[in-house]
Amino acid sequence: MIHRKGIILAGGSGTRLSPITNAISKQLVPIYDKPMIYYPLTTLMMVGIKEIMIITTKRDEKAFRTLFKNGNHLGISIKYAIQDNPDGIPQALLIAQEFIGDSPIVLVLGDNIFHGSNLIQSLKEANLDDENSTIFAYPVKDPERYGVVEFDGNYNVLNIEEKPKDPKTNYAVTGLYFYQNQVIKKIKNLKPSKRGELEITDLNQLLLSEHRLKIQLLGRGAAWLDTGTCDSLHEASSFIKIIEQRQGFKIGCPEEVSWRQKWISDQQLIKLSKSLLKSGYGEYLMQLIDSSNSKNKYLLGNTPNSIKS
Ligand code: G1P
Repeated sequence: MIHRKGIILAGGSGTRLSPITNAISKQLVPIYDKPMIYYPLTTLMMVGIKEIMIITTKRDEKAFRTLFKNGNHLGISIKYAIQDNPDGIPQALLIAQEFIGDSPIVLVLGDNIFHGSNLIQSLKEANLDDENSTIFAYPVKDPERYGVVEFDGNYNVLNIEEKPKDPKTNYAVTGLYFYQNQVIKKIKNLKPSKRGELEITDLNQLLLSEHRLKIQLLGRGAAWLDTGTCDSLHEASSFIKIIEQRQGFKIGCPEEVSWRQKWISDQQLIKLSKSLLKSGYGEYLMQLIDSSNSKNKYLLGNTPNSIKS
């Protein structure tokens, strides 16, 4: 099997969050205790993706490089590319073409946060599918802000519309797309929309018409959080804080995911934690090792679905 390459789109000017984003990338703004991009990055890592490209702006590239370097300390490889103008999500795949080579792709928007116990299983299924592309739909109260999936009475997908005035359902298309390599050729034939951008919805609609697109519905147990406005940013932070404080383990912690995937050793994790001790983040990483060596090893997010007596 050819390994799927991951792309995180962290471009855009984030004007809906200004002045927060006047000097820094939206995707570096904190969601509770870590930068926003940690969440989509760990989503990719949990699926097993180790080769990742971050696409950002000229202004913000240096900051992302400072944060992640080449990714080797996290047991992964991170490359960087620049999107000069925000000309649409599909353009990211053209920018990353050389990096992608012949591989299948997973593209995630750098401001999309996913959380839920069965979620990773669905994503892994999409990862293993080497014939179809897969996108994910999630019920929201304000579908007109997103790509919207339309079904018939038997949940057969009929259509996908970008930000429709009169949405046919409340199922929004999330910013996580598993594509086969052939989509690159198709993007080259897309025409810019009225707002002058290549639209990801046009690409998905094309794949749908060719019966090459699977749509998975994310259930009520999953969370797909919005970070588009100051209010939703604040709510996303509260959500993460509440779950982290209640359960005692972190959401979106790349060091932990890498260690659990066995991409880095105990010693490497200890080394990473040392520079982070003052914020409590490092202490958390240290605790992971202590708990894995003790009778409390299931306390930190390792919980199996059932425990035999
Ligand atoms: C983009 C896509 C939209 C999708 C959304 C998910 O919208 O165009 O189809 O539902 O991401 O976050 P944007 O946020 O760029 O307006």
